[in-house]
Amino acid sequence: MKIVFVVTLATCASVASTLAMAEGSSTIPPAAVAEATSVCQDCHGPQGNSVSSTFPRLNGQQADYIEAQLKNFRDHSRSDPHARAYMWGMASQLDDATIAGLAKYYSGQTPTQPQKGGALAAEGKNIFMNGVEAQNVPACQACHGEHGEGNSVIPRIAGQHANYLKTQLEAFRSTLRESDVMHANTKDMTDSQIEALVSYLAND
Ligand code: HEC
Ligand code: HEC
Repeated sequence: MKIVFVVTLATCASVASTLAMAEGSSTIPPAAVAEATSVCQDCHGPQGNSVSSTFPRLNGQQADYIEAQLKNFRDHSRSDPHARAYMWGMASQLDDATIAGLAKYYSGQTPTQPQKGGALAAEGKNIFMNGVEAQNVPACQACHGEHGEGNSVIPRIAGQHANYLKTQLEAFRSTLRESDVMHANTKDMTDSQIEALVSYLAND
């Protein structure tokens, strides 16, 4: 009798752990949701849709990109002034499993759409779609997608805050934020081309 009881319990435990594994692969770990709604939300807003343009929107951002950036903050390879001031400390508290969970949580939120209403939006669209050969500026859509939605480690840039986009383009240009790819794309970009791109892409 006793032996049967033990076997049944063991069977229950193994079924339960199989279920937990199956669930773990399709849902977001509770620790990541708790982190997002208690800590990250203070700056990045509910569901990552921040109101202040200092804080990038994370809603609908690419999961692989979020994961890569959190690791870059954690190992200090993204080291522009706001990365140091705001995100180095935050990321130092996160293990790989929580990072993966946070990336899944934010990438699953509805993205914000761009306004495309600024005075320079038409010029911005032209640069985004075709680039500007004279300034070695490539067509952004070639990597960031036709609608600026991004792909894997290439970020969504459509619907991001204007001020944040401008700061990042300037930081790539000056190498304050290191990226060989984006430095090459911005090194000869003029301030007015940055303004035009932001006016086409942003929502602020
Ligand atoms: C005190 C404010 C603050 C908190 C809290 C905070 N962040 Fe940030 N986060 C920022 C700022 C500011 C930036 C922009 C850094 C820069 O300009 O380089 C940023 C950037 C990011 C980026 C890069 C986005 C991009 O488009 O490149 C990710 C991803 C991110 N944060 C995730 C998180 C997560 C996840 C948490 C919670 C664990 C969190 N942040 C908590 C302020 C904050
Ligand atoms: C060859 C591919 C490629 C092209 C072309 C390209 N990008 Fe990027 N872009 C990237 C990659 C990769 C990153 C991520 C860099 C990193 O890991 O820090 C990035 C990052 C960015 C970011 C930072 C977004 C954030 O959330 O912090 C902005 C803004 C951006 N690109 C704008 C542009 C614009 C505007 C153009 C067109 C002039 C452009 N990119 C063309 C590959 C590209």
